[in-house]
Amino acid sequence: GKTLLITGIASGIGAQTALVAASLGAEIVGVDVKAPPATVPGAFIEADLSDPAAAAAIAARLPARLDALCNVAGISGVAGAAKTLAVNFYGLRALSEALAPRIREGGAIVNVASIAGYGWRANLERTKHLVGVQGFPDTAALVREFALTEQDGYPVSKEALLLWTQRAAHQPLFRGRGIRVNAVSPGPVTTPIYGEFRALFGDARVDDDITRVGRPGTAPDIAPAIAFLCSDGARWINGANVPVDGGLEASVNASVL
Ligand code: NAI
Repeated sequence: GKTLLITGIASGIGAQTALVAASLGAEIVGVDVKAPPATVPGAFIEADLSDPAAAAAIAARLPARLDALCNVAGISGVAGAAKTLAVNFYGLRALSEALAPRIREGGAIVNVASIAGYGWRANLERTKHLVGVQGFPDTAALVREFALTEQDGYPVSKEALLLWTQRAAHQPLFRGRGIRVNAVSPGPVTTPIYGEFRALFGDARVDDDITRVGRPGTAPDIAPAIAFLCSDGARWINGANVPVDGGLEASVNASVL
């Protein structure tokens, strides 16, 4: 069987990804700041991805070989842009870089981005700078430097993640080892952070998104796409972003293009 590391395993899309992957025969190792419910399969490592020391601490507790890393953990932005950049982008990237040597040839990394990142072309210059910063920077200093507001933190972190996904797909660290790097971008999904998005971006914005596609998504709508990108069936998919949003990205693009 395959061994998958899933971050954000304690809730929502991460927990559901563990259930789907385990049902397909995978061994699961989960990472989260809090313990998952007993219904979620696999071993568990408690770690905070906003801590620059987390990646090495997680790596030290892992099996020697992994088939895939699912970077699902993320926060909405209500904790502030500095924390949001640390969890949703720099912590995720640090973990991916630390674990690349463990992932077998033909293995995969799947990054959960967001519809909120689809517009990265609109913030490309700012995002290019943020992705160009190597290592695990002082995110509070970056937030000041780039004048990021509380509302900017989430979309900019996801824009950075989508840009990095495309770059990483061609980096020697990943491509040179035969590791594919892809993203899944959900639309609004009724997990615990859904209410925080409503508070952060306003009910009208979220309601407009839902009206375009008929209903919000659920964790079971998203998890199979993550599992597929981890699988050998996705062997020729690299550097891609797969919107899993009921058609929301297409609807938004169609109205601006
Ligand atoms: P969730 O809140 O149910 O799950 C997120 C998990 O990440 C939680 O278990 C949380 O404890 C964990 N986490 C938070 N900070 C962490 C840290 N510093 N270190 C380790 N783990 C941490 O939310 P959901 O919806 O399952 O989110 C999963 C991913 O999907 C996130 O990256 C989110 O941005 C993304 N997403 C969610 C959407 C939604 O509407 N729910 C829409 C688009 C993307």
